[in-house]
Amino acid sequence: MNQQTIEVVVLENGQAPPTGTTTPPRKPKWHDTINYIGNPDNFCRQNREKYGPCFKTGVFGGTTVFVGSAKAIQMAFNGDLKYTEIALPPTTMDMFGPYSLFQRPDLHRQRKTALGPGLTGRALDGYTPQIDETIGRGLQDWSTPSSIALYPAVEKICFDVLVPLLLGVSLNDSDRATFEGLPVSSKAELKALYKTYFDGFYGLLKWKSRFTAYGRGLKARAALIDFMRAVICRRWVEGPINPTADFLSMMLAGQQENPDGVFSDDLIENQCLLQLWASHYEISALVCSLIYQLGRHPQVVQRLLEEQAEVMGIQSNVNRFEPEHLKQMLFLEATIKETLRILPPSTTANRRLTKSVVLDGVLYEKGWVLIAEPRIANMMADHFHKPELFDPDRFGPERGEGKMYQFIPFGGGVHACLGAQMTMIVTKLFASHLLRLFDWKLTGSAQFVQFPLRKIKDDYQIDIVRRV
Ligand code: HEM
Repeated sequence: MNQQTIEVVVLENGQAPPTGTTTPPRKPKWHDTINYIGNPDNFCRQNREKYGPCFKTGVFGGTTVFVGSAKAIQMAFNGDLKYTEIALPPTTMDMFGPYSLFQRPDLHRQRKTALGPGLTGRALDGYTPQIDETIGRGLQDWSTPSSIALYPAVEKICFDVLVPLLLGVSLNDSDRATFEGLPVSSKAELKALYKTYFDGFYGLLKWKSRFTAYGRGLKARAALIDFMRAVICRRWVEGPINPTADFLSMMLAGQQENPDGVFSDDLIENQCLLQLWASHYEISALVCSLIYQLGRHPQVVQRLLEEQAEVMGIQSNVNRFEPEHLKQMLFLEATIKETLRILPPSTTANRRLTKSVVLDGVLYEKGWVLIAEPRIANMMADHFHKPELFDPDRFGPERGEGKMYQFIPFGGGVHACLGAQMTMIVTKLFASHLLRLFDWKLTGSAQFVQFPLRKIKDDYQIDIVRRV
């Protein structure tokens, strides 16, 4: 990947910035938070058009600078331990707990390096048959012809895919052994706890009560940790751990090998929880957005069908997708990236400047918060040719758009998403099965929930017909 060298001048306390230094344009306004949360797309577009890619706002109080140019994003993403700290509300940090990758910058690299092998590379190839089977089975249950509510239908399948992979628990409700000895007795209960936990991340009132999202979220978190503790006990009793079976097993095997290493009991329980949190709603949102975009662009569907036939051969009844097949689906990969560019599910965490810095003659003051917004970076004409067009070919080898720090649906730099490869595999498998099984039509324009995650609203329906 191309990476420009940038020179960030870090100012010591009391040190004056070089003469001629300016600050990003625009004054923070008291209503910025309402406008941003109400419609982040409009907020980012209007301000970018008026002020350029970097501008000051009053989002979340104080001075928050939105950064959208590649250089400023690079500066924001790589300041850990030097001039930035993660600046999330205390409620959100409590929900993460002390074992997240955001909490301890001093341990970040060590923890991330240890977790990586369970979410990338060969481990993912090993998970592929299970993901493939679960998605294929889930989609078989979609009865046709019919109208289905897209998000709930997709989310249901994603949960079935991700829980076994990340928590190491099978989700077969009809088998009594599934939840035996565990403090949660059904898939529905587990899912409900997860939803409450997720909602707790965005409860801004730090009041532990059943009347606040924060209070309910913390309670759900404690219940989920108890659940993981019981799952882990059961795992040890069941016998030898296969390190490549799932993410949990990778960590348990790591603990067995080095009991004093990174993988303490607490870290393992928390990481299972956090990775499901990080992945489930994001992937569900992405898959829905992909289905939606394909519904709007039949010519792209046609090319995807041709690619599927080319990769899978003429046996149109083939229903097993191997890692090697997925690697050859380059146009599908480009289409998923283009969906992530136009409809990025999330933004990145906020960073607070612990020191003033100067980049290219622009001063970013100590105490200000930086937000790198894909809604800005992914839509800049400096980064993408005709950015308003849905054009997967921009990610093809000839054009090679989507460079580091210009295309940031998965963040970048020190905290770059650890689940980008897994996301690609699940989404490719979902799309491949869908293309094989169904034709679908949209029912008009979809409304999206925009915050905290961008996702199609629950009641949006598509019409599906099984392919002959
Ligand atoms: C559509 C899917 C996903 C999207 C859009 C997404 C987005 C992001 C973004 C924007 C960040 C950077 C946050 C920042 O720098 O402030 C991030 C970090 C992270 N993501 Fe994802 N993510 C997705 C899926 C996943 C999955 C599947 C996993 C794991 C199973 C995962 C695990 C993580 C982790 C562990 C980090 C933190 C890395 C660190 O702090 O070093 N994500 N993700």
